[in-house]
Amino acid sequence: MNNHQDNQERSSLHGQWSSRLTFILAVTGSAIGLGNIWKFPYIAGENGGGAFVLIYLVCIFIIGFPIMVSEIMLGRRGRRNPITSMKILGQEEQGNEAWKYVGLIGLMAGFIILSYYSVIAGWTLHYFKLSIFGELSNLDNETAQSIFGQLTASASTQLIYHTGFMIITIAIIAKGIKNGLERAVKLMMPGLLLILIILLLYSIFQGDFMAGVNFLLVPDFSKVTSQSILAAMGQAFFTLSLGMGCIVMYGAYLPKNESIVGTTSAIIFCDTMIALLAGMVIFPIVFQFGLEPTDGPGLIFLTLPLAFNEITGGYLFSGLFFILLGFAAITSALSLLEPSVAWMIENKNYSRNKSAFIIGILIWLLGFLSIFSFNALSELTFWKGTLFDNFDYIASNIMLPLSGLLFTIFASWVMKRKHSMDELSDIPANVYRLWRFSARYIAPIGVILVFFNAIGII
Ligand code: PFF
Repeated sequence: MNNHQDNQERSSLHGQWSSRLTFILAVTGSAIGLGNIWKFPYIAGENGGGAFVLIYLVCIFIIGFPIMVSEIMLGRRGRRNPITSMKILGQEEQGNEAWKYVGLIGLMAGFIILSYYSVIAGWTLHYFKLSIFGELSNLDNETAQSIFGQLTASASTQLIYHTGFMIITIAIIAKGIKNGLERAVKLMMPGLLLILIILLLYSIFQGDFMAGVNFLLVPDFSKVTSQSILAAMGQAFFTLSLGMGCIVMYGAYLPKNESIVGTTSAIIFCDTMIALLAGMVIFPIVFQFGLEPTDGPGLIFLTLPLAFNEITGGYLFSGLFFILLGFAAITSALSLLEPSVAWMIENKNYSRNKSAFIIGILIWLLGFLSIFSFNALSELTFWKGTLFDNFDYIASNIMLPLSGLLFTIFASWVMKRKHSMDELSDIPANVYRLWRFSARYIAPIGVILVFFNAIGII
């Protein structure tokens, strides 16, 4: 498999997406998840609002865009799991297999992220249950806090939902690309969007909309620290599912004739709109009910029940919202699990079922530590906070940017120009040059500056 000719004939071992639309849906399904609706508002809240949002948007466009194009391209040329793809491509372009370690960092990040992602997804399932049993009615600020407090204090409740969520994720991955993944991603996004729009109307008419929008959109640069810039960049990687190998993995299932730049644009547009929409829903409610924007990981679980409570038939909307958020989380979780499972199938020759089961169990076990971070081990704090805080910091702010950086360096510096041109042959020459320039200089310099700044070197 050493020359270009062979490379074009390489095909994925797990099948391909049946259409361009399913690829877009799958990547959008991966991108849109708890990161947009749960994480973005609370990280923005903790980092002062508007200025953070602005830096986040800059990161999405000048760093996220070229890196996503690079990752899809690498996947489609490698046609294997991220580790093996990087090994093959490194060998092909440079005679050097060491590039496989970039894929490895990504896979490890996915492992860590899924372990706590599943715990938070479990919270949404619990809130679904509370909604439909009417346990979220007649809420005030204090009851909302105490309901959330009870959940985080109970390791056993969280464990049940974490287990349920992991079982669903493992079962879908075990079914493979066409039957599992595609069906799941086609169903869910439109419903979620609809409910967010209903909630937006609520926020506009009933919430303190101006205060919320001011907080979210008017930048106050005095609140910006090097740590908040790192957080904005980490969030850009997290929300676009970059640096983890999952975009590389999904790219491996993309037919040769599809436009990489076109699909990337659509995906980034949808992801960014949903995050901003979520922010515009949450903050007006925060200010209306006198909550704090800095309330942390509990933010949506404190605010949204209060809003639903005031809408006629709110418990129905609330139930629907939390279950759809759970679905959005599943489509992201699938993309977090698939690369490691594909790696195991391709390298250990295990069946898909067995691989999904083994990796799933390991991630499930690691998730216990995040659960205990909210109760038994909540006093165990070091460096960035609890174990949960540290997992998230290391994976999102360090591992994702690091491997994303190396993916893009490979695609733009190491890969021969004629190879990348071949992958991006549908776009005009000047757009190609723009991608290459951003991928070679702007994105890497951006990531490196933010890193050095955050660890205090510059
Ligand atoms: N992008 C997902 C979200 O915003 O919820 C989370 C995620 C999925 C992160 C896949 C990383 C990843 F590879």
